[in-house]
Amino acid sequence: MSYTEKLDQLLSSYQMHYQNVRSLHWNIKGQSFFELHLKYEELYTRTQIIIDDLAERILSIGNTPSSQFSVYMQKSLIKENAIITDGKTGVAYILDAQKTLLNLEREILELSGDANDEGTNALMSDLIREKEKTNWMFKSYLG
Ligand SMILES: [Fe+2]
Repeated sequence: MSYTEKLDQLLSSYQMHYQNVRSLHWNIKGQSFFELHLKYEELYTRTQIIIDDLAERILSIGNTPSSQFSVYMQKSLIKENAIITDGKTGVAYILDAQKTLLNLEREILELSGDANDEGTNALMSDLIREKEKTNWMFKSYLG
């Protein structure tokens, strides 16, 4: 798979992740409701921006991003979650999803580096650095 196809797979995976995090935001119950309800909102709001950046990067390098959920469901490496109400289970999902996204971003960076595609390299580097930081925070939350 070329890195431009992998970029579309990344877009699809973020779309599924976005909806999963919205579901976490809506369904969280228990003592960590207030903190996680807000944290999930922060995460899906950021994810929405990443989705737009990825789609517009795909367009900038001359390709067409997938835009239909039926396609996202086929291409996404992240699967649709059942309803999660428990905070620790929700954060464990986020860590797992971020691992999947991070692996794909590293694969893309390697290929876009070979292709001297500086714009995509920069976008992947930003996403990787950001996720390494939030991974540390979510891991710390789980203790
Ligand atoms: Fe809300």
